[in-house]
Amino acid sequence: MTSPVKNLIEIKNLTHDYGSVRALDNVSLEIRENEFFALLGPSGCGKTTLLRILAGFETPLEGSVTLAGQDLISLPANKRPINLMFQSYALFPHMNVGQNVAYGLEREKLPKAEIKSRVEEVLKTVGLQDKVKARPSQLSGGQRQRVALARAIVKRPKLLLLDEPLSALDRKVRSEMQLELKRLQLEVGITFVVVTHDQEEAMSMADRIAVMVEGTVGQVDTPVDLYQRPATAYVGDFIGESNFFDGIIVPEGIKHASLGVLPGNRYGKDISGEAHLLIRPEDLRLAVSGEHSIPTMVQDVQFYGGASTLVLSIEGRSAPILMSQPGATSAQRGALVNLTWDPLKAIVLPRDSRRSAL
Ligand SMILES: Nc1ncnc2c1ncn2[C@@H]1O[C@H](COP(=O)(O)OP(=O)(O)OP(=O)(O)O)[C@@H](O)[C@H]1O
Ligand SMILES: [Mg+2]
Repeated sequence: MTSPVKNLIEIKNLTHDYGSVRALDNVSLEIRENEFFALLGPSGCGKTTLLRILAGFETPLEGSVTLAGQDLISLPANKRPINLMFQSYALFPHMNVGQNVAYGLEREKLPKAEIKSRVEEVLKTVGLQDKVKARPSQLSGGQRQRVALARAIVKRPKLLLLDEPLSALDRKVRSEMQLELKRLQLEVGITFVVVTHDQEEAMSMADRIAVMVEGTVGQVDTPVDLYQRPATAYVGDFIGESNFFDGIIVPEGIKHASLGVLPGNRYGKDISGEAHLLIRPEDLRLAVSGEHSIPTMVQDVQFYGGASTLVLSIEGRSAPILMSQPGATSAQRGALVNLTWDPLKAIVLPRDSRRSAL
């Protein structure tokens, strides 16, 4: 039997303004114990503000936050079992790696022997035991990132908040560090909340993701559910590649002005009037004769080794249609092809004016 899910953090109706700017607007969400949780959203949607409130650097205008059932807002930042790793983490350049990591523990006046053993242990965890004496300037970007992480976890917080922890790294180091962060989180047993505006990064690391939009939380779900069952067109557009068709709701799906009825699945939602149909590129396929289909022309073929993407056009529509196939494709540029899809996999969603804000 699995143990029941326990919430570490409960956020209720959190609202925060900076002057006339509403940075958070009635945000409610729960973060579970030992979870790897991601806050995902475009620049300015309120991610850093939410972390700063959790860490105690900002007092919200309204709302409540509890940690393990206890009120957090009334607790000063330095009394919270929470550590925030800033968007631009700065290591002390004049201190070596060991001193950088020990700094927070020394401020707490822990015994020297304990500091030494905890620093050694945490540097081993991040794979930097050989670099204790190195200066930050002698390290690579990925190694500096590991020092910053070591510094954040050495104090053994219950909750570690990481604001864009990997944004300073190049692509390859970044994907290595994504695996590393996940391993680290499992190993140290600390709840992680990671902020990112990179959806692939959030998908690859997080147990659950909150998609934020303009100071609100659009949806909280696992990566798979966000992709397969987006609650809104905005979320469906933000997560992964998608093809959208706009029309009017009909029992089978939507009715498009020029393409006619496009079948889809409402997943039980009550939708009326204007609606979107979302089809993922891998859910489109070439139709055989007699099947319901839409006529398109191949504009471009992109081959990525393991998969190909066909970029297709439809008369009277400016946005291209993307279709992905495993392996190579025989389709030629300029060819006319008819596309079809499994209606169960095409998602009908209510009209969402924010989709165009992307
Ligand atoms: N100190 C501040 N004073 C005034 N406005 C602020 C302040 N900090 C943030 N804001 C505004 O609040 C909103 C949310 O900002 P926040 O920093 O939380 O966004 P973010 O999601 O972290 O963005 P980014 O991805 O760019 O870091 C933005 O409109 C921002 O301009
Ligand atoms: Mg930010």
